[in-house]
Amino acid sequence: MLHSVGIVGTGSYTPEKVLTNADLEKMVDTNDEWIVNRTGIRERHIADDKTPVSELCYQAAVKALEDAKVAAEEIELVIVATVTPDFAFPATAALVADRLGAKNAAAFDLSAACTGFIYGVTTAAQFVATGVYRTVLVIGAETLSKILNWEDRSTCVLFGDGAGAAVIQPVEEGYGFKSYELGADGSGGHLLAMLGGGSRNPATPETLQKKMHTLSMAGSEVFKFAVRIMGETALNVIEKAGLQKNDIDLFIPHQANSRIIDASVRRLGIDSGKVFVNLDRYGNMSGASIPVALDEAARGGRLKYGDNLLMVGFGAGLTWGGTVLKWSKR
Ligand code: UT7
Repeated sequence: MLHSVGIVGTGSYTPEKVLTNADLEKMVDTNDEWIVNRTGIRERHIADDKTPVSELCYQAAVKALEDAKVAAEEIELVIVATVTPDFAFPATAALVADRLGAKNAAAFDLSAACTGFIYGVTTAAQFVATGVYRTVLVIGAETLSKILNWEDRSTCVLFGDGAGAAVIQPVEEGYGFKSYELGADGSGGHLLAMLGGGSRNPATPETLQKKMHTLSMAGSEVFKFAVRIMGETALNVIEKAGLQKNDIDLFIPHQANSRIIDASVRRLGIDSGKVFVNLDRYGNMSGASIPVALDEAARGGRLKYGDNLLMVGFGAGLTWGGTVLKWSKR
C-alpha cells in the first residue's frame, strides 16, 4: 500500500552580503540595463570566504524542521542537492545531518545542478510512499560564487548563493505529490560544466591556469533547451496528475532568466499572475532556486491548502524535472 506523500515544512536561507548590478559594473564590463533586460536579475546574495555550502544548508534546514514541527532525531534520510559541495567527499549531506543532530539519518548528495531539488523531492517521496522512511529532509543549496570566473561577464552576473529545504512526510490521503518527471541527456553535458578537479582533469597548475575550476556555459544553447524543456515537462506532469493547465494555482519555475520563464509561460498558456518569480533579488541559485522560491511562496501566503502547485527545473547534465502536488499544509 502506497502512502500519499507531501511537503510538511519549508525553510530557506541566503547569505547576508548582497551584490548589486551596480557593484558588478565596477568589476567587469557590464551594466545594469543589459543585466536587467537580458536576465531580469537586479541583485544576488554571495557567501563570504569562510562560509561553505553546508552552513547555508544547516540554516535552511533548521527553519524547515521548525516549520514542520519535526525533531532532528526523526529524520531518516538527508538528501543535499548541490554541485558546490563542501568537499568532493565526504558528502555534504552527512556533515549537515551531523550538525543538525540527525543521528538516525542516512545521508547522500545528489548532483543534478539546477534540477537538483526536483530530483531530490522525487527520490525522497519514493522512500516515504513505500514506507521505507517516514521523514526525509531534502535541501537544494549552492555557493556558485565560489566556482565563478569573476572576469567572465557572460556568467558571473547570472548566479547567486542560497539554500532551501523541505521536509517530506506522509500526508492526508489524496494530497501531496501527484506526478513526477525526471530526465537527462548527457550529450549536452559540455554546455554547462565545471571541467577541472574531477578524475578526467585532476587539478594541476595547468588546469588552474586555464580556469577549468570555474563554471563554463554556452548560454544561448542552454537558453533554447530551457524554453523547450520547461514547457514540455510542465505539460507532461500536469497531464500525468490528471489535471488541466487551468487547474494549476501556482507555478514555480527554475529561476534562471526572466526571458526563459516568460517564453515558457506564454507557450504553456498559464496566467502569468500564477507564476512565482524572485530571481530579481537572488539571481540563479541553481539547485536552491526552486526551494527558496517555494519557501517564500508558502510563508508569503501564496500557497493555500488544496492548491495545485507545479514546479519545473532544468540545468546542467543536461537534466530536467517537474512535479505537481496538491498542497496539504493548512
Ligand atoms: O540554470 C541553468 C541554466 N542556465 C541558464 O538558463 C542560462 C541560459 N542562458 C541565458 O540566460 C542567456 O543566454 C544569457 C543571459 C546567458 C545571455 O543572453 P543572450 O541574450 O543569449 O546574450 P548572448 O550570449 O547572445 O550575448 C549578446 C551580447 C554579446 O555581445 P556581442 O557579441 O553581440 O557584441 C555578449 O558579449 O551581450 C554581450 N554580453 C554582455 N554585455 C554586457 C554577454 N554578457 C554580458 C554582460 N554585460 N554581462
